[in-house]
Amino acid sequence: MTSPLFQPITLGGLTFPNRIAVAPMCQYSAEDGSASDWHLHHWMNLAMSGAGMVTVEMTDVERRGRISHGCLGLYSDDNEAAAKRTLDAARRVAAPGTRFGTQLAHAGRKASCQRPWEGGGPLKPDQDPWPIVSASAVAYDAGWQVPHALEEEEVLKVIEHFADAAKRAERAGFDFIELHAAHGYLIFQFLSPLSNQRTDRWGGSLENRMRFAVEIAKAVRKAVPNLMLGARLSVKEWVDGGFEVEDAIEVAKALKAEGVAYLCCSSGGNSPLQQLPAGPGYQVHLAEAVRTGAGIPTRAVGLIDDPKQAEAIVADGRADMVALARAFLADPRWGWRAAATFGEQIRPAPQLARSVTTMQHWMKSAG
Ligand SMILES: Cc1cc2nc3c(=O)[nH]c(=O)nc-3n(C[C@H](O)[C@H](O)[C@H](O)COP(=O)(O)O)c2cc1C
Repeated sequence: MTSPLFQPITLGGLTFPNRIAVAPMCQYSAEDGSASDWHLHHWMNLAMSGAGMVTVEMTDVERRGRISHGCLGLYSDDNEAAAKRTLDAARRVAAPGTRFGTQLAHAGRKASCQRPWEGGGPLKPDQDPWPIVSASAVAYDAGWQVPHALEEEEVLKVIEHFADAAKRAERAGFDFIELHAAHGYLIFQFLSPLSNQRTDRWGGSLENRMRFAVEIAKAVRKAVPNLMLGARLSVKEWVDGGFEVEDAIEVAKALKAEGVAYLCCSSGGNSPLQQLPAGPGYQVHLAEAVRTGAGIPTRAVGLIDDPKQAEAIVADGRADMVALARAFLADPRWGWRAAATFGEQIRPAPQLARSVTTMQHWMKSAG
């Protein structure tokens, strides 16, 4: 019998061979938004991971929307060509049926920052910083740049950038798009009553605060009707007075009505004051709440790293898929590890075929 983790799933018309996803992970290694040799190595590695869904990193729809100088983008012809070249290479080594998606984003008030290994704070005057934007002129933290509050016309322009980047993603060959509405980046800055203090149609009520997300989903769907569209949302902000699970359920319903086929349920990232109780599977209950409350397929994420833990989440109907980030960095063959645990077939590139018995032996020894 096929393990629930290895049952195929179809989302928005796109079939994935199993329920395992590589979560998006910024590599901060792009050159003016273009994928580099690092990405070639990284995407090819993930392609051979055994995950049916590979969501490559946060990819910014305009230059000023990058977190750092090293962030990936899809705002130029060069970006598009580099993404296509890298993706073509990854596909050549991927396990059959592996699907690749890009996570379209705008960092908003969390842009113009150092790479994490350079400190991660706002770029200093001698580090080529740039002016940043947000829903309101509210800085992320003390000492951070105060963003320019986008005017109506500018909001519409950013929505257009999402649609344009989606077209580039399609031309580059991605199978699906994930909108990044999590972790305190621009879409979430509009969603949260703490970072959105607008009094126009983009702020105030939840309906107004979610308008930006909904309009982006609508514009992207229209731009690329043949690509599956999903989203990642911070379901809870973990700050008093912030965005809450019940808000997320309403947002999920609205996105679903726009054709969003799944929601990856993450949390936090919009405030240094957050009280986030990280621990094994600490966000699974959020995926479960949204799945039940909005009737949308969900992907659980956050400290899921053991195959049996992952399997139980899917088998118990708490989420439709699981996404892992750090586990795939630590073990880029984690999907094989899960397959060996449940006696499922491992489908490696032929050059790697002789290592399959090694993985099976390891997992047998581990019990
Ligand atoms: C190196 C690194 C880069 C990340 N970049 C992104 C990103 O681009 N987009 C995103 O939504 N989350 C990003 N995250 C968060 C992960 O996708 C994931 O939600 C988080 O690490 C928790 O999952 P884990 O416990 O399996 O690592 C990143 C995490 C790591 C470790």
